[in-house]
Amino acid sequence: MPLLFAKTTSPITRRYYRRLSGPWLLMVMALVLVGCEGQQSALDPAGHGAERIAELFWWLVGGAVIVWVIVVGLAVYALRVNPGPHPERQTRLLIIGGGALFPTLVLAGYLIYGLSMMPDLLAPAPKGSLEITVSGEQWWWRVQYHTPEGDRVALANEIHLPVGEPVQFHLESPDVAHSFWIPALGGKMDMLPGRTNHLTLHPTRTGVFTGACAEYCGEAHTLMRFYAVVQEKEDFDAWLEQQSNPVASPATPLTQRGEEVFSAHGCGACHAVRGTEADGVIGPDLTHVGSRLSLGAGTLPNETSDFLRWITHTETVKPGVHMPAFGMLPEADLHALAAYLDGLE
Ligand code: CUA
Repeated sequence: MPLLFAKTTSPITRRYYRRLSGPWLLMVMALVLVGCEGQQSALDPAGHGAERIAELFWWLVGGAVIVWVIVVGLAVYALRVNPGPHPERQTRLLIIGGGALFPTLVLAGYLIYGLSMMPDLLAPAPKGSLEITVSGEQWWWRVQYHTPEGDRVALANEIHLPVGEPVQFHLESPDVAHSFWIPALGGKMDMLPGRTNHLTLHPTRTGVFTGACAEYCGEAHTLMRFYAVVQEKEDFDAWLEQQSNPVASPATPLTQRGEEVFSAHGCGACHAVRGTEADGVIGPDLTHVGSRLSLGAGTLPNETSDFLRWITHTETVKPGVHMPAFGMLPEADLHALAAYLDGLE
């Protein structure tokens, strides 16, 4: 750019471009590349699907850089080195070759390369693989594990996966269109009312990764996140076993009071707590809610104070949420309720 405009721009603009092309540009690029790392980055892959997608991305970037260098090189040549006039034959060759033939060949190459990935990305997991149904709902994730003993493990906003194994997801929605995406593990897949879509993820390294809804689904769309925890097989098995168990009875007077408050105010009409009378299916299953990494689908951390904040200020924490706030309860009851919920581990 600085070279190209050297003749046609003012000295001040030229100085600006020269500055921009120096260390500043390098710093900006470094900052941009740092953004590629992290638990929600498709360019820091931790799964087979994400690895293929990252590979495609870098081939596209590499190709784009080469094309950019060629085009800018030709522009510099035409403006600075040999300003013309150019023979008509040369111009025609450049327009047909560079303007039509070259882009067609390059884009066709990329299309073939991209399409050749599809069977791999869309292949179902082998029979006998772990199966999980995830339902995207305004604005949280209902998760159901299918175990050999049946569909006992239900939770919300958190998915645990064993490393090195393909997992078959069945993706649904009862309300509007959502999209299930864990960028570090694989591609995204729509969740549509009235149909079940399928996605296979194959994590390749352990870690905690974040997922998000990738389709605008209403007011709290940006607050519809979840965690995917990839574990060694034995840790995963232990987690699944623990999640399969009903909750233990509350052990302290405070949490016992909390359970009474939970029951007296009808929380069980919407929420289930396995091992108690609460068996609602409208909202998230709270059986082991205290053991999860977040509250309100990635909106808050998971301390007792966060439970308190959530229960009393649902609408402020997550505008549009269907759960009403219960700030009108006596303060002592609210503290007991928060302690009870946090104790459900
Ligand atoms: Cu659900 Cu956006």
